[in-house]
Amino acid sequence: MKTPVSVLVLSSLLALTVWTTGDLSGSPAGYVVAGTPTTTNAAEGPEVVEDSMHEFMEYVFQPTYRRLKVTMAAEPVDNSGWKALKSDSLILAESCNLLFARLPEKNADDWARHATASRSEGSALYQAARGKDFVKATSAYKRMLNNCNACHRQFENGKHILVP
Ligand code: HEC
Repeated sequence: MKTPVSVLVLSSLLALTVWTTGDLSGSPAGYVVAGTPTTTNAAEGPEVVEDSMHEFMEYVFQPTYRRLKVTMAAEPVDNSGWKALKSDSLILAESCNLLFARLPEKNADDWARHATASRSEGSALYQAARGKDFVKATSAYKRMLNNCNACHRQFENGKHILVP
């Protein structure tokens, strides 16, 4: 089956949104993370793999959150603990960008606001983990979960309230 042109145009726009809303500081030379896509072929680019929000949260967000919760229970004692923290916080922060490709039909602005806030606190958690600052990490972690929960409250009738 051929993909309709409108879908392709929409997915390139979404790709562009993800690219242009990303934090561009510190991107290593040689990687294009912003601006126009490097290909003119609209069929090449980001595309949603799992369009069920339930499966997406269950397989991308939930296992990451569960690992993070264990890691955040006490300050990491060695480098592998900090690496685990950096990995899971980065996975969650970047995964929040993927929520922009899954806007709901109603209240899409609120959805985008929750996704932005969760990503930004996830990013703060990642940066704190890079700096091995557990005090900062703990407060960013709690702020991130508050924003994850804000979306769950609005769009899931208060189900899935996550605790640090
Ligand atoms: C923009 C909205 C939004 C944001 C932001 C959001 N979620 Fe969710 N989340 C949902 C929705 C919608 C569901 C319910 C999916 C379903 O079951 O249909 C959900 C469900 C979940 C679940 C339950 C999954 C299951 O299988 O029972 C977990 C865990 C979860 N989210 C973790 C997170 C974490 C961690 C964050 C923050 C880093 C986060 N979510 C941010 C919308 C969001």
